[in-house]
Amino acid sequence: MIYPIKTALVTGASRGIGQAVAMRLAQDGFYVIVNYAHDLQAADDTVELILAQGGKATAIQADVANEVEVQQLFEQAKAIHGRLDLVVHSAGIMPMAKIIPSSLSAFDQVIHTNLRGAFLVLAYAAESVENGGRIIALSSSVIAKSFPAYGAYIASKAGVEGLVRVLANELRGRNITVNAVAPGPTSTALFYQGKTQAQIESITQLSPLERLGQPEDIANVIATLAGKEGSWINAQVVRVNGGFA
Ligand SMILES: NC(=O)c1ccc[n+]([C@@H]2O[C@H](COP(=O)([O-])OP(=O)(O)OC[C@H]3O[C@@H](n4cnc5c(N)ncnc54)[C@H](OP(=O)(O)O)[C@@H]3O)[C@@H](O)[C@H]2O)c1
Repeated sequence: MIYPIKTALVTGASRGIGQAVAMRLAQDGFYVIVNYAHDLQAADDTVELILAQGGKATAIQADVANEVEVQQLFEQAKAIHGRLDLVVHSAGIMPMAKIIPSSLSAFDQVIHTNLRGAFLVLAYAAESVENGGRIIALSSSVIAKSFPAYGAYIASKAGVEGLVRVLANELRGRNITVNAVAPGPTSTALFYQGKTQAQIESITQLSPLERLGQPEDIANVIATLAGKEGSWINAQVVRVNGGFA
């Protein structure tokens, strides 16, 4: 019997959490589509890392907030092995901006990338993923903290959590699970950007485990949701944060 090659699409896989997820899924036997927006070299590096560990992957560029590009991304991803089994939507941005009038453009930017992007990726995933497949989107544990300057970002991720739960209901009858994973502070470029050393140290201490998450901590949980052990977890937000929230 010939088994189909399971294919996973990971958005924002050129670095950070998406890269760790792509590498882990490749270890678990998926052919992985490494999506990125701007940095081809970083995406190629992710593909090389996967090939070096004996996996299979290819990089495809698409801005997740651009409908034409997302449509082409899914068409190209599906064309490789004729199927798509798993979509992990990790692409995202986190500009800091207080809720003051001059922050409107930062608000528009983060809603555009994080919320419109999630809507588009989830919508095309719903159309494209095989029955029995899995859809996972990244939210954030910072929703539970309500720190100053996180308003636009938290609003975008609250929207993602809403979309995930509704989509799980809309896919009734297809045996597809739809979940969100909400990391706490995790050691990636997105986390370090714009923070002083003192801020990094104080945020690191917020978890009773007194460390930042590593991208692999998040990838482990996503791999569980994507695998056989995750089959009864549906319409949930799974917080992965060492007790931060
Ligand atoms: N790190 C944390 O502490 C943390 C905590 C909670 C939640 N999260 C969430 O986890 C996810 C991954 O974050 P990360 O820390 O891994 O971030 P990261 O290291 O900054 O990586 C972001 C990735 O997203 C891609 N990307 C950005 N804008 C894009 C767009 N419009 N279209 C397609 N790809 C795009 C980037 O590719 P290019 O460079 O090519 O643009 C990159 O591959 C995000 O949704 C974030 O909100 C992170």
